[in-house]
Amino acid sequence: MIESIKNTLKSRIESSFQIQDVIVEEPKKGHADLAIPLFAFAKFWRISPMEVYHRFEKVVGENNNVNRIEFTNGFLNIYLKREPIAKAILNTIHDQGSRYGNHELKKTETVVMDYSSPNIAKSFGVGHLRSTVIGNALKNIYKKSGYQVIAVNHLGDWGTQFGKMIVAYQKWGNEADVKKDPINELQKLYVRFHDAEKEDPNLEQEARDVFRALELGDPLYTQLWTWFKDESLREFMEVYDLLGVSFDYYTGESFYNDKMDAVVDALESKRLLKVDEGATIVDLGDNLPPALIKRSDGATLYMTRDVAALLYRHHMYHANHVLYVVGNEQILHFKQLQAVTDLLGYHFNVDHINFGLILVDGKKMSTRGGKFKRLEEVINQAISEAKAAISSKNPDLENQDQVAKAVGIGAIIFNDLKNERHLDIDFNLENMLKFEGQTGPYLQYSSVRIESILKENTLETNDMDTRFFNEDDYFDLIKQLGQFPYLIEKARETNAPNLIARYILSLAQGFNSFYGKHRINVEVSGHRNANLLFIESIQTVINEGLRLLGIESLKEM
Ligand code: ARG
Repeated sequence: MIESIKNTLKSRIESSFQIQDVIVEEPKKGHADLAIPLFAFAKFWRISPMEVYHRFEKVVGENNNVNRIEFTNGFLNIYLKREPIAKAILNTIHDQGSRYGNHELKKTETVVMDYSSPNIAKSFGVGHLRSTVIGNALKNIYKKSGYQVIAVNHLGDWGTQFGKMIVAYQKWGNEADVKKDPINELQKLYVRFHDAEKEDPNLEQEARDVFRALELGDPLYTQLWTWFKDESLREFMEVYDLLGVSFDYYTGESFYNDKMDAVVDALESKRLLKVDEGATIVDLGDNLPPALIKRSDGATLYMTRDVAALLYRHHMYHANHVLYVVGNEQILHFKQLQAVTDLLGYHFNVDHINFGLILVDGKKMSTRGGKFKRLEEVINQAISEAKAAISSKNPDLENQDQVAKAVGIGAIIFNDLKNERHLDIDFNLENMLKFEGQTGPYLQYSSVRIESILKENTLETNDMDTRFFNEDDYFDLIKQLGQFPYLIEKARETNAPNLIARYILSLAQGFNSFYGKHRINVEVSGHRNANLLFIESIQTVINEGLRLLGIESLKEM
């Protein structure tokens, strides 16, 4: 609403005076509703700002939403007809509920999101946690923006490491141990392989031969590999269940095994392949290292499988835009992927959604190598700490376990998404679980606070004194509520869930300071109903923002 008023004013002035770059700002609380800086045009026309003001006066003044204008310090200040604007915003939110901010379905645009994608036979790493949380939020945001989204888990379930795994298992492993604690046991075998490899250089070749045989369909190796994969998936699914995350496809790297010859053929027919020290590569010029397509023994690589996956997504899902939610360390890989498919003559948008590390006390957190707990345990610890806090605050609360789960997980997700994603984030359970500050629980608690007021009162929309919406304390927040649809679009364009996180945080802070100053449940019914509509709208938007981030909102906590 405010955004469209700003755009209309801007384009009306620009077309009336054949100028560009008119800026319509939103000054801070306590000032005019909108302001247009005049200095640049004064300079341009060699007149005073006051004279510019008089030129613009008519065009701005005749806008239906403008109440009055004034000149101060080189600015054209605009005071809006707040009441009708506020009513329009609040009524829209009241009518649309969680659909507020939805954009029309853009049927032609399918976006594939490749996220989470952990590696089989290894623990679900914290990097994969970030990928999962960010990818899931982006999925929700794109869907709300009207895109068709296909969520793919590109599991790391193929490659020489499975040759190593199988060799290690056959040498030192046994079925019972793996069954008991699959990923841990497999990981131990993997570590043992690496240690042994240092002493015995033949082991590496052995592993390569085994993987090559697996690629060619060796039945025994296939059986072992399938087993490792099933056990790993079982553990991964527990994490996804906890987080409430799901995918349309779990097509991992192995899925492309029979689609790789076609890739090699396509590259061959475009004369893009070169043999370099026995390996097959695509030369990518001076700015990028060559892309490795095949090892000297004929085995394919991570890159080969990514090219195959991209072609598959194009042919099967008609997607030309793929978002890869993967850490900063793979920036080069995705540049190479883009370059290879460019050379093949496609026009794909390989969009690498990169992100930073998770730090604990300033050090890189790792769930590997036994130093840190398994991710599932970390999540469960957050849940049990949330439970302790909840039961001491509200011992009579029913469904304490359910609430604790939503709070604990919400805390982890919000702690991640409130930051610009390419930055490293701090992982401190105690801080993220606080009910005050920039946390998930704070947002859930703010929403619950509104809920308890709404539960005690009935909103009657036909008895409402909307004059209150003219007051700064109301109108500033209402203006913000009006921004939600634009914000979603901006978050989508820049792949930045943190914009939504920061926005709902500011709404919640706005509500809490309003609540500290004003009584909601006042005697006079017209005033009370205005208050109720106002806080209901804030709650609707906070809850929808939480949902987009992948966080549950609550009725009680
Ligand atoms: N499994 C990979 C890793 O853990 C991430 C895969 C990302 N997706 C992709 N299409 N390459 O590093």
